[in-house]
Amino acid sequence: MNAHHKMDEKQTDVLSGMAQGVLGKGALRVDGPLKVTGQAAYAAEIGDGTEAVGVFVRATITKGRVAKIDEAAVRAMPGVLSLITDERLLRNPAQGTANEAPIQGARDVAYFGQPIALVVAETFEQARHAAQNIAITYDAEKAVTDPLDGAAQFDLPDAKQIEHGDVQTAMADAHVSIDATYTTPSQSSAAMEPHASIASWEGDMLTLHGSYQMLKYNRNELADALGIDPANVRLLAPYVGGGFGAKLGLSSEAVAAAIAAKELDRPVRVVMTRPQVFETTMRRSSTHQRLRLAADADGNLTAIGHDATVSNLPGESFSEPVALATHFLYAGKNRAYAHRIARVHRTCAGSMRAPGEAVGMLALENAMDELAHKAGIDPVALRLRNIPEKHPESDKVFSSRRFADCLTEGAEHFGWSIRRATPGQVREGEWLIGMGVASAARGNILSESKARVILHADATATVETDMTDIGTGTYTILAQIAAEMLGLPLESVTVRLGDTDLPPAAGSGGSWGASSAGSAVFLACQSLRNDIADLVDADAADITLKDGIITTGNVQRDLSDTLTNDITATGHIEPGETSNAVEQAGFGAHFAEVAVNSITGETRVRRMLGVFSAGRILNEQTARSQCFGGMIFGIGAALTEELVHDHRDGHIVNHNLAEYHVPVNLDVPQLDVVFLEERDEWANPIQSKGVGELGISGAGAAITNAIFNATGVRVRDYPATLDKILPDLPEV
Ligand code: MOS
Repeated sequence: MNAHHKMDEKQTDVLSGMAQGVLGKGALRVDGPLKVTGQAAYAAEIGDGTEAVGVFVRATITKGRVAKIDEAAVRAMPGVLSLITDERLLRNPAQGTANEAPIQGARDVAYFGQPIALVVAETFEQARHAAQNIAITYDAEKAVTDPLDGAAQFDLPDAKQIEHGDVQTAMADAHVSIDATYTTPSQSSAAMEPHASIASWEGDMLTLHGSYQMLKYNRNELADALGIDPANVRLLAPYVGGGFGAKLGLSSEAVAAAIAAKELDRPVRVVMTRPQVFETTMRRSSTHQRLRLAADADGNLTAIGHDATVSNLPGESFSEPVALATHFLYAGKNRAYAHRIARVHRTCAGSMRAPGEAVGMLALENAMDELAHKAGIDPVALRLRNIPEKHPESDKVFSSRRFADCLTEGAEHFGWSIRRATPGQVREGEWLIGMGVASAARGNILSESKARVILHADATATVETDMTDIGTGTYTILAQIAAEMLGLPLESVTVRLGDTDLPPAAGSGGSWGASSAGSAVFLACQSLRNDIADLVDADAADITLKDGIITTGNVQRDLSDTLTNDITATGHIEPGETSNAVEQAGFGAHFAEVAVNSITGETRVRRMLGVFSAGRILNEQTARSQCFGGMIFGIGAALTEELVHDHRDGHIVNHNLAEYHVPVNLDVPQLDVVFLEERDEWANPIQSKGVGELGISGAGAAITNAIFNATGVRVRDYPATLDKILPDLPEV
């Protein structure tokens, strides 16, 4: 049985009459026990230890060509089995899009630290020793590494240079206006689990255990990189220790492991070191953003301008879409956007959690705070006043949007009313205390997905899809959906993920995973409910399924007695007209309270609240955890996270977790997350919207706005490290 649904119409009353009561509530992670007992094997742990081990040799120039590698010397080193210099290694990591042409020729180097060869040896130590002692000569060329040094070439994509109305005139005519520039540094996803691949071949069939977010795409990318048929590639990633975008696309170790395993006719393991993860996998682009806001005397926006310079390697198609939320969040008749991509020889830039909004909203929401202060209007009130009735550029309505409620209920819950409008008024000993607010918004996407659900004769069920769980809770959510639909206790559902032999799902990206894969599971179960109804000669609408019991009218039957054999259905969802008919996004509001030390300039976040509207919440506990993660990312962006590129050669200086400062426990205070009740009938059959990336969008700006309220110091250059706060602190 198949259930195929193209999302062309609103879905009303779905999941009504579902009796199990397991969806929506918090539910412990079904994969939790396996993870905490170490039984969930991550990519680097696969195998029996007899695999050959590969270690990358990496470029020590920024741009140019490899002229000569002393291969004979390397091959003679102890334990060395092979030196892979195959040109297929030199393709850049991609964005999750298969069949992107490689931008480099054989042996071209595009950034410092780029993998250029793989040493394969019996042990890691032997491979590392050889890789470190290899003699390479290069033909080096001069490289531009700084987007703003004047020598960089720029691309200006036509579609991103937009003007509605006349921003310049509106700025000149404004009662109050802001024209300020904000900068954000390169950042790293810095997932806990390093990228790793173990490849083995049987004839022409490649099996690769890796750490990836979107297997159906990654399989095609790997096949494309190797020049083989995707049907001959099986990719497995049942457990993934975080991705945040850095594992959306294939990274170089997968290609290298596959080539080496083929050559040696033996399994090969390649595990990136922490510095390699920082230097060779996707970074988030640094940004340089000019915000112009114009308002009338009542604080109604009359113009918004958002001009950005982002960076990437020459030829790369991705560029950080910083204006995404600016297009739809606030009203304002005159609107202008400019987007420049500086071509620099730094590690490839790609998607990192909430690409666009995460850093675009640092600028936008900081600027809104500046406008509120200058206009003498409360920052919550300013935002409320500027919520557009419809999308201000497309003129479409929003599918669901409790944005105003997020702001007002958040203000109430946080105790916003005690905030002093004038900065620097609240002091506790040597600490200055302040509060800040910022909006959150992130577009919602449905992406084609399939899932198979097998209802076993013993009234248990198995869900199967190549969907991934990157720490988000996919295993649990899909089990909840199946349990709810089939009237089974959660424990009766087993979920199998992360294997390209299973029906292809959307993968984990763009916050579409739970809604997309979840809708496919929902549809498969709907089909199974029809089958169950047929077995008891009833209409599907007239049966109630709960705890393995089928109720029709006043008759009850055990599901396990009714089923004589396993029944299987595949659900298939794809986006249709509802994706275009309306605008879909999740919304929220962040509130932060900070204490800034008046002597050292050190900022401590004291508490944070996020209030979100994201459609139906599928699992309150895992959704909350996603928002915590996003808000913690916000703390990092506001205060500590910054990839430092050496200005001479572009190399990443702080390529480890000791010097790239993600927030640790002591940096993270009491966090509070509130979800507002919402169903999005346009989004998908389960009426949910993405939450993963909503939590980071805007979060860091609430903190820098709170720093301003505490001290009167406006930091426009993220992160707000103490050296940027100290010089302008008020006299003690
Ligand atoms: Mo996300 S940046 O689409 O993993």
